[in-house]
Amino acid sequence: MVYDKLTYAGNPDNLRHLEDNPRYSFVRGDICDMPLVDRMVQEQGINIILNFAAETHVDRSILEPGSFIQTDIYGTYVLLEATKKFGLERMVQISTDEVYGEVTTGSSVESDPLRPRSPYAASKAGGDLICLAYYTTYGTPVVITRGSNSIGPYQYPEKVVPLFITNALDDLPLPLYGDGLQMRDYQYVIDHCEGIDTVLHKGKIGEIYNVGSGVEIRNIDMAKQILRFLKKPKSLIRYVEDRPGHDRRYSLDTTKLQALGWRSRHTFQEALEKTVKWYKENEWWWRKIKSGEYKVWYERQYGKRKTIAP
Ligand code: TYD
Repeated sequence: MVYDKLTYAGNPDNLRHLEDNPRYSFVRGDICDMPLVDRMVQEQGINIILNFAAETHVDRSILEPGSFIQTDIYGTYVLLEATKKFGLERMVQISTDEVYGEVTTGSSVESDPLRPRSPYAASKAGGDLICLAYYTTYGTPVVITRGSNSIGPYQYPEKVVPLFITNALDDLPLPLYGDGLQMRDYQYVIDHCEGIDTVLHKGKIGEIYNVGSGVEIRNIDMAKQILRFLKKPKSLIRYVEDRPGHDRRYSLDTTKLQALGWRSRHTFQEALEKTVKWYKENEWWWRKIKSGEYKVWYERQYGKRKTIAP
């Protein structure tokens, strides 16, 4: 059962291919709505919750932090309560490498202290801590995954990779923040999902598992690679004013998850190439999005952003 509020980034088109599957059902709802969550868990005989529901975009969290605190913290509490009250088998909390904060050298291990720096990262860190407190205090069977940046099909084009691909396809500028030397671990979404699936089946309750490719790429190199795949000129790259508090680098140590048998299967090149190909072949999916309220967001986010010298 997919339970989704369908806010701006939720999209029934993403689940279209599942509609004829007898094992699939959909309920529109908010994870902050405790009576509805409780009713659905009981009526549908739910025994496991995977919490992917979250406000996730750092730039939006800078403009409007309230919904992040509400969904990512309070919503997590509602799901933990349901897990505890109805004696569910397990809850998997999907978290992020951003809770560790900026990592200038080395890689984050699961026991590292949390030093979130954006309202988004702080709200996810809050969710993680409530999960761990429920495990310690009530023995609630919860396990946490902390993933790096996912890329792949169906990603809302506010995230940098689909934003750059779809802009490049339309010969629009690619707004690169600051000096473009920030580093991210861009993993293919299927690798990320397989990591979560491994934790769902083999992860130890009360534990945390990092999920990432272990390869960090500079934003400027990611942008150039997209342009190369699409045979577009480098002149489309536009250096713009940086994001406030922009974390320069994240890096995950995934030894703990690998000990459960998981391996990342796509290199960055393969992941990016597959992603570019999907957006090229699925304009029907993203053109609809880009012509709607997205335009208002884009103007607000990028309209007045100053161009800077690289
Ligand atoms: P993003 O996809 O927003 O993920 P996150 O900030 O959660 O890692 O951004 C990824 C990187 O790309 C990050 O270093 C910020 C940068 N970026 C740009 O340079 N330009 C953009 O327009 C966006 C959205 C992000």
